[in-house]
Amino acid sequence: MRIAILTGAGISAESGLGTFRDKDGLWTQYDLSEVATPQGYGRNPQKVLDFYNMRRRNAVDAQANDAHRALARLEADARFDVAVITQNIDDLHEQGGTQTVAHIHGSIFEALCAGCGHVWPRRDDLSTTEACPACQTIGTVRPNIVWFGEIPYLMPEATAYIEECDLFVSIGTSGTVYPAAGFVEIAKDAGARTLELNLEASGNRAFDAVRTGPATQIVVDWVAEVLAE
Ligand code: APR
Repeated sequence: MRIAILTGAGISAESGLGTFRDKDGLWTQYDLSEVATPQGYGRNPQKVLDFYNMRRRNAVDAQANDAHRALARLEADARFDVAVITQNIDDLHEQGGTQTVAHIHGSIFEALCAGCGHVWPRRDDLSTTEACPACQTIGTVRPNIVWFGEIPYLMPEATAYIEECDLFVSIGTSGTVYPAAGFVEIAKDAGARTLELNLEASGNRAFDAVRTGPATQIVVDWVAEVLAE
């Protein structure tokens, strides 16, 4: 059985990483137009790098939780062809044991040169005064994160998984940011069953079933049921 799984910030919430739109979420503390858009980076690159340096320092110490580990168990079972498509920029799915993760919004542990497009691994702070290791340009170094108004990564691959899956599962996402928010309709139109696992129901009627609660409970329980089938 082919299972396409979309995850959002909610699956990493119990690992101590903030969400965006919950009470006290990141977008209640920061103006996303200033720290998560190309225009914001152009206006004040240091402010943008400081924002992601703070997020990277939080993410570097975070540990995978039981929900991440449960999805890795599902992927490891040969009966299932599992595709994890995440909006998250942390590495907790990988830490939890998932082998193949499509980071459609990029990774906090990679840097990108806005000049030449070079991408390289990075776990410490970025600065506006450093040079790109490939083209040596100074002032073009940014986090390899997809900002609002930019095209997400791996969309052809992600869309193919979603169009071909038998079951689409959305975990820990408010389903408010496109194109990811439209994945459930694509899956449903292609004939898949659709399941939402979230702290609160998003209310999207494209979901055939909804289970609410913390991911470390409802994802673990759901995976145990699937593996016991
Ligand atoms: N377990 C399960 N779900 C949870 C938990 C939890 N412990 N805590 C919060 N949630 C749910 C919330 O109910 C909410 O529906 O996770 C969802 C988080 O929603 P958002 O904060 O909007 O995060 P997300 O959906 O990942 O945002 C999508 O928006 O800002 C951009 O690029 C950013 O990738 C992000 C995208």
